[in-house]
Formats: sequence, structure tokens, C-alpha cells
Amino acid sequence: MDHPKLPRGYFRRLTSADRGHFEDHLRRLDRESRRNRFGGAVTDAFLKEYASRALDQDGVAFGYVVDGELRGAGELRLLHDAKDEEAEAAFSVESEWRRQGVAAGLFRRIIDSGRSRGVSRILVVCLPHNTAMQGLTRKFDGELIQLAPDALGVIEPAKDDAASRWRDAVRDAADFAAAIFDTGGAIPTLAPWAAALRARRSQRAQI
Ligand SMILES: CC(C)(COP(=O)(O)OP(=O)(O)OC[C@H]1O[C@@H](n2cnc3c(N)ncnc32)[C@H](O)[C@@H]1OP(=O)(O)O)[C@@H](O)C(=O)NCCC(=O)NCCS
Repeated sequence: MDHPKLPRGYFRRLTSADRGHFEDHLRRLDRESRRNRFGGAVTDAFLKEYASRALDQDGVAFGYVVDGELRGAGELRLLHDAKDEEAEAAFSVESEWRRQGVAAGLFRRIIDSGRSRGVSRILVVCLPHNTAMQGLTRKFDGELIQLAPDALGVIEPAKDDAASRWRDAVRDAADFAAAIFDTGGAIPTLAPWAAALRARRSQRAQI
């Protein structure tokens, strides 16, 4: 169930038609949030490029929409170079909308969606000082693995279950309708974290 404190918006799946909303959302993130989200300082030009491609990639994205504006986003990207079905997730919530359960709602949808696609492990990478993301990871029983200079949060969703498939399918249908009203109308992976994940996997492979 979503957080009772949630403001008046709603969650829905994002499609490539949401590029503009997604770019606007990312541009509203302040310097520190951008650093936390992308692992380094990023310019508006980078965000424009990212938003123009991110929603076309393999995977799924969800947003939190308030009065037609996207205020939070959760992305799940399949990692094709991984042996087992792994995917990487990333989250961003604008500061005025934090601590109200938005990211938790996005995470729940990401986990259901990953399960229904046969993903057995969801990886979330964050900087060591990012206590918010680490708290969020722990809330979903994610194990945190230190990966200097990054912290790697690993979520292991249980095996696919009928309930998560059902929830995902129902959301897809409802989101399609919502997207038509909302939309009127980047970079191949969630890099730069991808390099850290690859390094981590090759380290594991050598053990
Ligand atoms: C991390 C982030 C997505 C959290 O968004 P949010 O909507 O505020 O998170 P929620 O309100 O859903 O919180 C869910 C849980 O996360 C943890 N959490 C969230 N913010 C926290 C904070 N500042 N300190 C400690 N724990 C925190 C808590 O466990 C919380 O559960 P609770 O409310 O029951 O205590 C948001 O801070 C953000 O966008 N940061 C910048 C980008 C970023 O760091 N992305 C992560 C790397 S991909």
C-alpha cells in the first residue's frame, strides 16, 4: 500500500511521450540531487540528452505526477551483460516532494515490474553519503554492499509471483489511460553507475 502521507498526485508508467516531462523533472533537481542521482555533476545539456533517450531503453519507468507535472521518477533498466537476470534501478524525487513516500511507491512498482519480467536481482548504486537512498534500500530489505568510492545497494526480489504479475498488469492498463491525458501529445544505461556495476560483477566473478 502507498504511504498515507502521499500528496495529491498519482503514480503511472512513463512512456517515450513523457520525455519533455522527464527532462523538466530532472532539470528541477538541484546540484546535490543531480550528483546523488547520476554520481557526479551533470549539466542541463546532459539531462536533455539523457531524458531524450532514457525512456526508449529496455526497461520500465514510473513517475509520480502532481497537477500534470512529473515530480518523481523511478527507472529500471535490464543489464544484458549480466549472467542472471539483473536490472539496475534509479530514483529521483524533487526536494519539495520528499519524505512523503513517493520513492517508496516508485520502488514498489519497480520491484513488481522487475519480478514480472523475470528479474532476480535489482541493483541500486548510490554515493556513500546518500543516507536517503540507503534508507530506502533497507526499507525494501536490500542488502548494502560497500563499493568504494560508491555504495552499492542490492535488492533481491523474491521469485515472480502471481500477485506481482497481476498488480503490474493492472497498473499497465490504468497507466496507459493516464498517459494519454498527461502527455498531450538518454544514455544507453543508467551510466555512470554502469561502470561501477560491471567492475563489481567482474570482481565477484574473480572470487
Ligand atoms: C533518495 C530519494 C529518491 C528518496 O525519495 P523520497 O520520496 O523522499 O523517499 P520516501 O519518502 O519514499 O522514503 C522512503 C524511505 O526511504 C528512507 N529515507 C528517505 N529519505 C531519507 C532521508 N533523508 N534519510 C534517511 N532515510 C530516508 C526512509 O527509510 C523512508 O521510509 P520512512 O518514510 O518510512 O522512514 C530522494 O531523496 C532523491 O531523489 N534524492 C536525490 C537523487 C538520489 O539520491 N537518487 C538515488 C540514487 S539513484
